[in-house]
Amino acid sequence: MSRNILTAVAWPYANGPRHIGHVSGFGVPSDVFSRYMRMAGHNVLMVSGTDEHGTPIQVQADAEGLSTRELADRYNRVIVEDLANLGLSYDLFTRTTTRNHYAVVQELFRTLHANGYIVAKTTMGAISPSTGRTLPDRYIEGTCPICGYDSARGDQCDNCGNQLDPTDLINPRSRINGETPSFVETEHFFLDLPALADALGQWLGERTDWRPNVLKFSTNLLKELQPRAITRDLDWGVPIPLEGWSDRPDKRIYVWFDAVIGYLSASIEWARRSGNPDAWREWWQPGDAADASSYYFMGKDNIVFHSVIWPGILLGYDGKGAHGGEPGELGELGLPTEVVSSEYLTMEGRKFSSSRSVVIYVRDFLERYDADALRYFIAVAGPETQDTDFTWAEFLRRTNDELVAGWGNLVNRTVSMAAKNLGAIPEAGELTDADRALLDTVAAAFDSVGALLEKSRQKNAINEAMRVVAEVNKYISDMAPWKLRTEDPARMSTVLHVALQAVRDCNTLLTPFLPHAAQQVHEQLGGTGVWSGLPEVSEVSEEGNAGYPVITGDYAAAQARWRRTPIVPGTALSAPTPVFRKLDPSIVEEELARLEQKAEA
Ligand code: MF3
Ligand code: ZN
Repeated sequence: MSRNILTAVAWPYANGPRHIGHVSGFGVPSDVFSRYMRMAGHNVLMVSGTDEHGTPIQVQADAEGLSTRELADRYNRVIVEDLANLGLSYDLFTRTTTRNHYAVVQELFRTLHANGYIVAKTTMGAISPSTGRTLPDRYIEGTCPICGYDSARGDQCDNCGNQLDPTDLINPRSRINGETPSFVETEHFFLDLPALADALGQWLGERTDWRPNVLKFSTNLLKELQPRAITRDLDWGVPIPLEGWSDRPDKRIYVWFDAVIGYLSASIEWARRSGNPDAWREWWQPGDAADASSYYFMGKDNIVFHSVIWPGILLGYDGKGAHGGEPGELGELGLPTEVVSSEYLTMEGRKFSSSRSVVIYVRDFLERYDADALRYFIAVAGPETQDTDFTWAEFLRRTNDELVAGWGNLVNRTVSMAAKNLGAIPEAGELTDADRALLDTVAAAFDSVGALLEKSRQKNAINEAMRVVAEVNKYISDMAPWKLRTEDPARMSTVLHVALQAVRDCNTLLTPFLPHAAQQVHEQLGGTGVWSGLPEVSEVSEEGNAGYPVITGDYAAAQARWRRTPIVPGTALSAPTPVFRKLDPSIVEEELARLEQKAEA
């Protein structure tokens, strides 16, 4: 049965180009999942955008001597290009500085406030004694009161993952100049998480199919839930939609509160752009569409926001916490079905982070290598369940020994042989047991690989697909069709028919991972039209807002389906060109030298 599947992809901060650590966390896994689900016949809505508010943007704007808006405009464009060039099939990739997003965020804020889940409180805010200016949470550093880590930030401890308030830190200091901040009274709004704890606990209790580590981590957080500040002393962000607050230039909604609402606002923007403004409801209102599910993809440092804060916001909006209440004007909204998080990608032994000196940016990578080679590496060797290390030597090995020698070579020799000797896809004569066994093995992989992709076990899934590729290679070596050319041409035709069908099936199995190559293989097998859809970047505008780029795509038009597509005997074949480029071993030294240069610069 066809399901409505929302693929909700973490929103990258618009504070710099994306590096390969970012796209291995949220990017490629969410795209592989969405492509598979579309091929399996489901209605996928994949949304995201750039996260453009908050301190991360302000810090970088200061560093580059730009206004926050200029900085966000610049990196929104850069990130759109990075993600589209990787072939990530967003139905809509937008941004958080749209009027639509502001309106949706304010609607949620107002309803949560009306339902009693957002309350005002006077708290202590940090200021810098030497300048008198407020010191945002992220600018404060100190010892974590929970785990003792000595470089915890005022908003979060990167060591134990707990959220913090700056006043929790032991020995707080300013990250700007090292001075001890002073704390003064300031009024803020808080999300009343304790009032949502029971509802959250009940909901989490039903998530029995989640990965145990995510579930345990999230359940633990419920034990110590405190009201959470969701406004900041900042001039950059969504204004607070309450009387007496909306025109205050120094108070804004906290970036994380607005960013998670992006999943909803982007769905609404997508619906409006598609010409059916209510279409988003099919994914968000489970009451209307019995089979709607949502899958959230992110790096592990984002889990708490998706497994506790965002569900809490939704429960409060739906009026389902201890304070009761009524759903807001959008109607009742559905909670996440699954939170799929990845671990970190390190590089050459060092943690990828733009703030340190050594990173590999997606755009630099794609200047020299193919998108599918990176996608393959991430799928087969990425940080799906544990931190993993990217090395150029391993990238070379995976590309040359597996992608080129395994899959590319299989396509090339099969199509070449058939093209050269027959000029077209041959009919099969009578099949032998070996022929049937191979076709059965390949056909069975639709179930096995599909089941793994359903559960986002992507590493196992691609290994299983590549195991089948190896079986087909072995079949060809065993049958040695080149020897049959004069001895038994009819048998050669049968072997090539079987091999071509197997290649076509393997191409289908690999399509979610390698969409660019899959289109090429489709054409080399004589196919026409779009096999696997690619994203497009277009320029859109909004009333009262300058134009901005979005990623969209017509993926429903693609032919790829998750099942055997029979080859058609008689289809003309011509001599193929290699689908993947073999890399020269010298690239390892070259790339390491480049990194060294960057590290020194
Ligand atoms: N910008 C955040 C980060 O890079 C992720 C935001 S995800 C969202 O860590 F859900 F809040 F949008
Ligand atoms: Zn800690």
